[in-house]
Amino acid sequence: MAKGNPSIRLARRLGRYLPRPVRRMLHRIVRRPVNRDSIEADARMAVAIARSWSEKIGALGLDLRELRVLELGPGRNLGPQLFLASNGAHVTVAEPYLASWDKRYHPTLYDALRSEWPETAQALDRVVASAGYGGELTVIAEPAERLTGLRDGTIDLVLSNAVLEHVSDLPAVCREMARITRLGGVNLHQIDFRWHRCAARPLDFLLQSDARCRRDYTTYPYENGNRWRPSEVAALFRGAGFEVRHTFPDEWTDPEYLATFLPELRRSKSVYRSWPEEDLCVLGALFELVRTDDPAVRSMGEAEAEIHRRRKQGPP
Ligand SMILES: C[S@@+](CC[C@H](N)C(=O)[O-])C[C@H]1O[C@@H](n2cnc3c(N)ncnc32)[C@H](O)[C@@H]1O
Repeated sequence: MAKGNPSIRLARRLGRYLPRPVRRMLHRIVRRPVNRDSIEADARMAVAIARSWSEKIGALGLDLRELRVLELGPGRNLGPQLFLASNGAHVTVAEPYLASWDKRYHPTLYDALRSEWPETAQALDRVVASAGYGGELTVIAEPAERLTGLRDGTIDLVLSNAVLEHVSDLPAVCREMARITRLGGVNLHQIDFRWHRCAARPLDFLLQSDARCRRDYTTYPYENGNRWRPSEVAALFRGAGFEVRHTFPDEWTDPEYLATFLPELRRSKSVYRSWPEEDLCVLGALFELVRTDDPAVRSMGEAEAEIHRRRKQGPP
């Protein structure tokens, strides 16, 4: 994000000396500059996300009408969620850094969105007309780890896009998703496994010590990410009570980079030094999960998580 801007880099460095709650509050207050081009890009992105979710939901055979949908970490652009609501879904969004209605941004964004979308979109139209979300979406300012605003088993479908690599406590998120998703309900999580701070060296954060990684994660949660690998994510969700129906990898490391990275990782003291290559080279994947009460699924997930813990500890 702000790679090229020295003042933002400096502000971030200084920000690391502030207590976390103060940093969070500043994050909510300080908004990115608004310009017409970036708003139009946000509108196009929202349309692309909405179409992609609609296709995936259709492929699952789910009918959006009356579907209780939760989206985790949507950011400040709630266009995709308004399209789902326009198709009859009851949509809740959970975002700890909730951006309130910004009259410099949202009216222009949703107008631009409307012109990009030829189909009817009543929820979006009502939001544009009333200049606010009104009752079209339920908005919860809580982290995915603890959604006190949602009762057990009340969600049919949970969505997230580029969020779970940023959460601070993924095991807690998996348990919370299991609590709120009804039996047979579905979760679709698109997760990035890249180090966002250096596009050319997307796995280099795995070389960091745990302490360094924690420190960088606290300072740059969006750039550093939490480092969980795809097999760990699958094990944590199984252990929480989800069948992993499919994992669709959609981005991989460049083979030349991997050839130089792997020997470095194997020689390092990183907890990932003996991690299998096939689990390292996936940089992005969509997880399709179904909530189950099958105890065999949980036991399998717990056994896999134990193998991962031991692998990270290294030989005794
Ligand atoms: C990279 S952005 C992705 C935003 C949006 N989903 C998209 O695709 O454009 C990550 C989002 O995750 C949110 N987030 C971070 N930690 C979270 C948590 N513990 N629970 C829910 N959302 C979280 C951030 O506030 C941010 O909006």
